[in-house]
Order: sequence, then structure tokens, then C-alpha cells
Amino acid sequence: MRTAQYLKPNVSIEPLYNQWYAWWYLIPPQTAPMFVANLHLRIMKSFVTAPDVHVAALQNPALAGGPYINYPAARAGEIERLLDRTVKDQAASLRFVEALAELDKLLAAATGHSLEPLYPKVPDLLQGYVELTYDLNHRASARFIEPLLYRSPHYRESSQSMLLRLITEDKRPYVFSTPRLDTEGAIHLHRAFRDPAVDALFRMRLEPGSPDDVAAQLGIEPRDAALFAQLFTDEAPRPPSANRYTGDGVRIRYLGHACVLIESRDVTILTDPVISYDFPTELPRFTHADLPERIDYVLITHGHADHLMLETLLQLRTRIGTIVVPRSGGGYLADPSLGQLLRAVGFERVIELEDFDRIPIPGGALTGLPFFGEHCDLNIRAKTAHLVQLEGKAMLMAADANAIEPRLYDHVHAAVGPIDVMFLGMESEGAPMSWMYGPLLHTPMARKMDQSRRVNGSNCERAIEIVSRLRPAQVYVYAMGREPWLSHVMVLDYHEEAPQLLGARKLLQYCRDHGITTGMPYIRDELFLGAGA
Ligand SMILES: [Fe+2]
Repeated sequence: MRTAQYLKPNVSIEPLYNQWYAWWYLIPPQTAPMFVANLHLRIMKSFVTAPDVHVAALQNPALAGGPYINYPAARAGEIERLLDRTVKDQAASLRFVEALAELDKLLAAATGHSLEPLYPKVPDLLQGYVELTYDLNHRASARFIEPLLYRSPHYRESSQSMLLRLITEDKRPYVFSTPRLDTEGAIHLHRAFRDPAVDALFRMRLEPGSPDDVAAQLGIEPRDAALFAQLFTDEAPRPPSANRYTGDGVRIRYLGHACVLIESRDVTILTDPVISYDFPTELPRFTHADLPERIDYVLITHGHADHLMLETLLQLRTRIGTIVVPRSGGGYLADPSLGQLLRAVGFERVIELEDFDRIPIPGGALTGLPFFGEHCDLNIRAKTAHLVQLEGKAMLMAADANAIEPRLYDHVHAAVGPIDVMFLGMESEGAPMSWMYGPLLHTPMARKMDQSRRVNGSNCERAIEIVSRLRPAQVYVYAMGREPWLSHVMVLDYHEEAPQLLGARKLLQYCRDHGITTGMPYIRDELFLGAGA
């Protein structure tokens, strides 16, 4: 019997909720039912009724990312079985959604007089989980007591599962409109995301262990035993100590999209982790195999699936010291707490930041800075730009901030002083609001309203406003969704003349004209600041 083996560097784990790829809104107990009822069931019903319509729609590249299931019509029977099972297993979630709709009506009818008489009228299953409040214009809303909901039967961990498989190429099917059916070559683990056996498995990326032992911990069925054995290798990885930066100053590595590894001799910081698996490729990039053994801080900018990616985080859970996330407003339906969410899926050390909250770290500090826009004007507070001060250098990871009010950056500049390096996303042609937030609405939006409120980052003019006010010495455009290993969560199939790219190139030209070092990293990049430069 084999004993000590390593987990292969191209083993993936897809977190699923009722077999749909799990992201931000599929974890919190108050939002997950809304997505089940208003997105998943609707898409599956539509496919079962007319699979050919879906197949035909996906022939048109312009409809990629739309509500169409990416399976041949022949699999309609399997989708129908998943649909039936979801309706049956999620009966309580569907009742929860009805209760939310009823609560919404109750609040809409509030007249500005005391809300106390409304409490007995709150649907029974929500009583004790919501506080009713007015804003100063006497518009009523409900505040969800999330920690209690996570401890209630409404948090359905039994709907969580994970799919293990080997990844051998970048191309992966788009996940937000198609559930995962049991797929050949994949092992479906019916376990909660927080299960410590997941940690035991991914520790074997670094330390050899017994596949038999971890199979027992994960409850691998005998029928999957042969497939499971293929996830392991005798070959030891490159020691992660070789990946660790030990020089002077700061080393910054671009790992794709918004994922940047910032290291000094004393500390390792990883932003918005979305990391490629390791397999032979024409496009060499930093992968899981290039990470240091320990990541002291993971910084999350916001909940969008390309920034808060559970798939990557679960694999790194035992290696992350502290996750730093923006603090949500507390209880508003569209703004669930990222801290609660991460604790629920097994991360014990999570720090929530408000604007200008500062955490000292060895050789510097982390500070949360305001991030406007890109959330369709919804009152979502769980978003932050991260200012990383390290070894005397200041790096601003601005994520998808949209300078809808440029004067913000005058005030930020006055408050924090010079910025050495800024990373800014420029996805300026985002989807309309309903594409992401529609399932949270009880009534559909008017089309014009929907089109006017978009998931937009800064365009060229707005980015120039930021640069001219913050005056960073170096500016890099990142988070553009161009790396092919994001194909399962993004459908940005950029052509050379795409407005996002034209805007980004115009910004680069502006920077060069103003003596600012600039670039748009792609696939893999590296730079040094300070003594290491
Ligand atoms: Fe975003």
C-alpha cells in the first residue's frame, strides 16, 4: 500500500450549492434562497420546457453569460431530475422567499407611524430575525440579524457540496447559468465547505500524506476510489520556501486579474485570490505551485465572484493567516456580511475594515479606503480599496472603483499622502443591474432603469481623474478579466477594439505623457520597489 503522496497541483475543488457554483450570494442564509427561487429554478424550468431554445441561444456569442443552460438537449432529463430534487429539498427556502416578499409588502405599506404594530404581522418564520426601521425620510426597511440566521435552519449547509477533479486546460464551462451535473472524471463530495477534511486534502499540496487516510476523512465512496487515487503523485513539489521573497524592499507579483502577491522579507499579502492551476501550457503563469507556504494576509476588495473566489480560498484555508474584508452595512439584503460569510465557511481569522480603519503589519500597515460605484447605486458597503504601506512604499489596490465623484480622491490624497503604485480595474462596460442583483428583487426593474444602473468600473476619463488627483508614481490597469483561467466566471471575450481595452490604452498613454510608469499586466508580471528595485 502506498503511504506518503502529494496532492497534484492541478486538482480543483468547485464549491457548489444545490449543484450551482457557489459565490458571494449563495452562502448567506437570507440571500441564497432568493437565488435558488429567482434564478436557478427559473433557468432549469425554462431548459426543461424548451432545451433547444437554450442550445440555439448559446450558438450566438453575444448571448454568452445570459440565462441559458450550456448542456445539449439530451441532458434535459438530468436537469429535470435536479429541478424536481431542488423543489423538494428547498421547500423551506421557497417558503423563506415567500416570507421575504410578504415582509417587503408589509414595509412598503408602512406610513411613517410607529413600526411596533407591524412585528406581529411579520411572517412567522422571519419573526425574531429582523428589526424594522425607518430612514429619516420614513421609508421602512428590514435589518437581518445575520449571526442568528447562520445559526438557524435557514442556513442550509446540507445544500453545500464540492466537486473534485483534475484541470488540464484553461477552458472551463461558464458557471452562473448552468448547474454542475455529475460529470465523468469528477468526484462529488457531499460535505460542507467548512469541513476540516478539505484542509487535510489541500495540506497534501505541501506535505506528503496518506491518500487512504484523507479518503476516509472525506468519505470517498468505493466507486470513486480509483478516480481519487489519480489526484495524488509521488513527485514532491518545488519547496514553497523557494517561492518566498527574502530580499530587501518589496516584490510585487501579478498572478492574473486582481490577484497580486505583495511580499517583503517580513510579510506576505495576497489580494483577491484567483489562482491558476498548474499544468503544461503555452502561457506560463504563476500558479498554486508558486505561492509561499504561508500567506499572512489575504485582502478582499468586494464580493463579486472574480474577487471573492471561494474555490481558491478553500484550497488556501490552512495557509492564510488573516483575511481582511470590507465591513458590510449590517443586515441589508443586498449587502451581506463578508466576515460572517467567511467565518461560516471555515475561516477563523477575519478582520472587517471600515473606511480608514488601519491595521499595523510588520514593516507597515493596511488601510481600507473608500470604493465608490460598480454596484449599481445599491447601498452596498462591503467594498473597499486597500492601501498597503510596506517598507516605506504605498500601494493602492483600487479594485473596480469607479470615480463617479472624482473629488473623493482629493480628500483621499490629502488624508494618506503620496501613492507609489496604484492598481486599478477598468471594466467600464459592465452588465446591467439585473444581471447580478435581479434575483434579489421582488419586482422586476423597468428596462430603462436597469440599463442605466450598471456594474461599471472606471472608464478612461474617470481613471484619469483618479490618477491626476492621487498622482501615483506608477499606475497599472488590472482586473480586466483577460486571463483565460477566468473563463468559468467571466465572459469577457475581448477583441482588440473592445471599449474597455481602448479606454485602458488611452489611460496608459496619458500616464506615459505625464511621466508615470505604467502598464497593463497580462498572465504574469513582476516588479520590485525600494531596495530590491
Ligand atoms: Fe467588481
